[in-house]
Amino acid sequence: MSRLLYASGGKPRILLRIVRHRKHGITIEFRCRVRLRTDYRMVRKRTLHQLQFPVACHLLYSGVIFSDPPVMSYRDALNIEDLRRMAKKRLPRVAYDFLAGGVEDDVSLANNRAAFERIRLRPHTLVDVSGRSQQVGVFGKTFNAPFGIAPTGAAGLYGFAADIALARAARDAGIPFVLSTASFEPLEKVAREAAGGTLWFQLYMSKDREAARALVTRAFDAGYEALVVTTDLPVQPNREYNQRNGFTIPFKLNLSNMVDGALHPRWLASVFLRTLLDSGVPRFQNLDTNVGGRIIAKPMNEFRARREALNWEDFRWLREQWPRKLFLKGVLRADDALTAAQHGADGIFISNHGGRALDGALAPLEALPEIRAAAGDRLALMVDSGFRRGTDIVKALALGADMVFVGRAPLYGITAGGEAGARHAIGILHAEVDRVLALLGCPSVRELGADYLWHPDKQGVET
Ligand SMILES: Cc1cc2nc3c(=O)[nH]c(=O)nc-3n(C[C@H](O)[C@H](O)[C@H](O)COP(=O)(O)O)c2cc1C
Repeated sequence: MSRLLYASGGKPRILLRIVRHRKHGITIEFRCRVRLRTDYRMVRKRTLHQLQFPVACHLLYSGVIFSDPPVMSYRDALNIEDLRRMAKKRLPRVAYDFLAGGVEDDVSLANNRAAFERIRLRPHTLVDVSGRSQQVGVFGKTFNAPFGIAPTGAAGLYGFAADIALARAARDAGIPFVLSTASFEPLEKVAREAAGGTLWFQLYMSKDREAARALVTRAFDAGYEALVVTTDLPVQPNREYNQRNGFTIPFKLNLSNMVDGALHPRWLASVFLRTLLDSGVPRFQNLDTNVGGRIIAKPMNEFRARREALNWEDFRWLREQWPRKLFLKGVLRADDALTAAQHGADGIFISNHGGRALDGALAPLEALPEIRAAAGDRLALMVDSGFRRGTDIVKALALGADMVFVGRAPLYGITAGGEAGARHAIGILHAEVDRVLALLGCPSVRELGADYLWHPDKQGVET
């Protein structure tokens, strides 16, 4: 990693270059004019100088230069990638890797993005787009944008009471919010604090039906309108960065992540210590006390272990327990989508967990046309994984999705600027969708379809 510092004014002139290298420490290169004596005369020449510092200087350097840039505000972010970069600077490595990382070799993570690039948009011209609308209707409800906020566990690592902040930001934007089972806030509190919003609850179902029933009953009593049961993590995925960073459950606080935390004082004070002072060691508040709790508690593993035995019978059982809308999250095949419909699902989330589950799994965007063709109107199709731009959202809608969900994008926002940062992230995506519709010559997201798409291989994309 290197950082360039420029002279101000006029054409930028490189004065100083700082190269950080994990193994070799820091090299500072700088150019300056020196007087050189040659055989014939004295000349002034710009030469390159290098200073080498040991590895220990990494820490100091990270603290002083790389943490919490004082001038960059979330308001300066023009797009989601800008917010990601800010988040990277604000967060200790352990937290950033968990947020941005995928799994194993990040093949799925990269392909999720590449899938968008393989599809092009085919704009119409001379269409009156002055009255654009991006409102969508799902199950009789109208949302102000065709995207919602996907469930993200441990969101409280990225902002104080982040689950509540996200839920409020979604409510005020008129879009749905899905609360994770693994939130640091109790589901009842989120429902109270974001009353009036569209709240869905994501369930990590335990094979232990009593534990599952207890959680489902809580979600029902708190008024959650839909249940989203995630089934694409029957076992813990191989996120090697978590092991390297000591980010395991139970969480082990080691010297290196203590130092890293200390070097990110803004995050330490405004998120970590504030949470600690407010409610003690973060807890997975929705988990039964027998099977989970504090992030440093061991029984979490037992809760997870029982997930690998889940099957369609459990899903059918869940359908009987939950009278409201039911989604299955983590579907990537048309046959599974149809089985979900047969077992009473109202909709599915076509998702590869943001490239965080099975590495090499196909991108949801690749699975979407086949699933829409098979499912017809029997299922509401939500899709997530890799959405960063308005163009991404428009492409998925044109391929047949009812709505798109975003996981990391609002978390980058919350890291960069708290609740206001999350609102900013939503605003960016909303503005981008609006602009894309205009440029595409499509007055409403409801009119999007294969006609607006072009695929280099297929010379057109079928839904
Ligand atoms: C930090 C983080 C935590 C997540 N936690 C959960 C979770 O608790 N339950 C779940 O179903 N999905 C979880 N996901 C996956 C998201 O719901 C969603 O599928 C994914 O983030 C979408 O990809 P995107 O982040 O590229 O938008 C998590 C994702 C991230 C990044």
